[in-house]
Amino acid sequence: MESNESRRNFLKATGIGSAVAVGSAASLVSGSANAAPSNAAVLAYPERNIGKAAGMKVNTPVAFNYPDASSPCVAIKMDGPVAGGVGPNNDVVAYSTLCTHMGCPVNYDQQAKTFKCPCHFSVFDPEHLGQMVCGQATENLPKIELKYDSGTDSFKAVGINGLIYGRASNIL
Ligand code: FES
Repeated sequence: MESNESRRNFLKATGIGSAVAVGSAASLVSGSANAAPSNAAVLAYPERNIGKAAGMKVNTPVAFNYPDASSPCVAIKMDGPVAGGVGPNNDVVAYSTLCTHMGCPVNYDQQAKTFKCPCHFSVFDPEHLGQMVCGQATENLPKIELKYDSGTDSFKAVGINGLIYGRASNIL
């Protein structure tokens, strides 16, 4: 009895008892964070019509919103096949126009064939999967995945590769 009492006093004095308790609680928390939630919902991307291939002019952005009204994007028909391009000539690509640095809308420079951010001057390359070329941004522009239907000669947006600026998830 006396030895139990003195052991308890020793643990209290050294803080070992509370450290063990904190450690156990932390492992419970981290265990639950690592476990896959059994009821997690996977939200599917919508399909959205962008337009007909025949109506697109080379090097001229076509604006649309995807996957919802608060996410501006453009599709561009480049002047030849490009990485990730779709359509009859694999030359049509689409990107979010929100800069990945702090969300300013980027502008398409037709001469340079790049997206330029007016806020802190980041540059992105639509011919190379939206790659960040220079500037403050550290992520590429999110690429809008397109599907081409040869029967109707039209494009649909069907997904996004990359995270739209300011979102924890592209589908809200
Ligand atoms: S918001 Fe585009 S570079 Fe800063």
